[in-house]
Amino acid sequence: MERHLSAQQLARLVRIAPGERPYYEALARAVRALVLDGRLAVRVRMPAERHLAAELGISRTTVTAAYDRLRDQGYLDSRQGAGSWTALPDPATLGAENPWLTSEDNGMTPMHAAAPAATTLLPWAMALAAEDHPRYTLGIGYHPMGLPTLREAIAARYTARGLATRPEQILVTVGAQHAIHLVMSLLIGQGDAVVVESPTYPHALDTARRRGARLVPVGVDADGWQLDLVAAAMRQSSARMAYHVPDFQNPTGRLMDDAGRAALADAARRNGTVLLIDESWAELALRDLPPVVPVAGFDTGGNVISIGSASKLWWGGLRIGWVRATAELVRRLAALRASVDLAGPVFEQLVAARLFERIEEARAERRRTLTASLDTMATALRDTLPSWSFTLPDGGGSLWIRLGTPSAIRLADAAACHGVRLAPGPWFGVDGTLESYLRLPFTQPPQVLADALPRIAAAVAAGPNGARPAESLTPAL
Ligand SMILES: Cc1ncc(COP(=O)(O)O)c(C=O)c1O
Repeated sequence: MERHLSAQQLARLVRIAPGERPYYEALARAVRALVLDGRLAVRVRMPAERHLAAELGISRTTVTAAYDRLRDQGYLDSRQGAGSWTALPDPATLGAENPWLTSEDNGMTPMHAAAPAATTLLPWAMALAAEDHPRYTLGIGYHPMGLPTLREAIAARYTARGLATRPEQILVTVGAQHAIHLVMSLLIGQGDAVVVESPTYPHALDTARRRGARLVPVGVDADGWQLDLVAAAMRQSSARMAYHVPDFQNPTGRLMDDAGRAALADAARRNGTVLLIDESWAELALRDLPPVVPVAGFDTGGNVISIGSASKLWWGGLRIGWVRATAELVRRLAALRASVDLAGPVFEQLVAARLFERIEEARAERRRTLTASLDTMATALRDTLPSWSFTLPDGGGSLWIRLGTPSAIRLADAAACHGVRLAPGPWFGVDGTLESYLRLPFTQPPQVLADALPRIAAAVAAGPNGARPAESLTPAL
């Protein structure tokens, strides 16, 4: 039976402070708050615009503008001539207002992205790459699998981490996201089940959704993974693929131990599930931890594919990532890649190859700077927002914060008014869940965090009426 809401009922529920303007935005925000708090259920038919206008004593165009706003943000589904129903947005919806595409240089502090500035080793590596480069300009410049010297360096690093690897097993990509896209494009079809962590890295969810995958979320929390639940999810959904971030998971920062890795690989083998292991943060331990072997080291069925990135250890601006798989799969992925781009830029690959030579220095530098930023952030949070709770991460670049109330999207809106862009929990989940969580990256320097945190606290103190709608439903890094 269809549920519906009368204009009188909705008018009673919405809370708009006197003087809040523009009114249509205030109305949209009030309705959105009701949906997010669960006071207004999803798939409830909204009153006709003219009835609500009459009830609130406002013009019909104002209600139309509010409904349009809600529709743009994913909180209303409308059918021409039939009406509008409450909805929850798809967290990975990439709309025209996507701030990922438009937020450049707008003066906001980018606390929605966990992306550190470049390593101080970058100028050194670039100078050497500039010396290496002329030799390459004599050739055709296209290296569809990646520059041999970089493939060798990446393979050698896997071998050093305990997983013997040959350069033929490496495909160099334009970042790890490119790698995720290639692997999912090759192996996922419409309707295939893909097990994902909840919370997880939003752009991977986006890629899987765009392949038409059925997402099967399994929770990860401060205690880490429940691998029996992961195995059950693989079995019950006949999962084609499972996407995991066992090395300093984004956003929780947890590290899976070797026993967990063995169990994960075993579950994938038994269920015929391809494991896509994202090691983008693998080099970013924040303290000394018992060493772990890459998950592919536990692979006995040939169904583990690993991906990695230069973005977190060195710099996102290099746009270097990779896939490690069988040589045969690497060739198939390279053939697929040729349909979109033919090869990566040579210079950046030379830079990355050089950076591998001094990898331990970069690891130490990141540990030093990220720990300093984390200390600043954790202290400020405990002082100014004591009701928020979090567990200190093993590594990575973000805190996964439990807010205590389902208010993350409203908070992100309010923080935008205070010049800080935040990543609300639902970005990291499936079906609009995780509204009581916020990811706070500590990849910015301490002085930036010391400036941003009081502004976040001010946004919390201002409450919902301190907010203006922001384009908050966008995946983060
Ligand atoms: C888990 C994870 N995978 C992949 C990426 C994308 O990295 P890249 O910049 O190499 O495309 C990120 C970036 O935030 C990430 O956190």
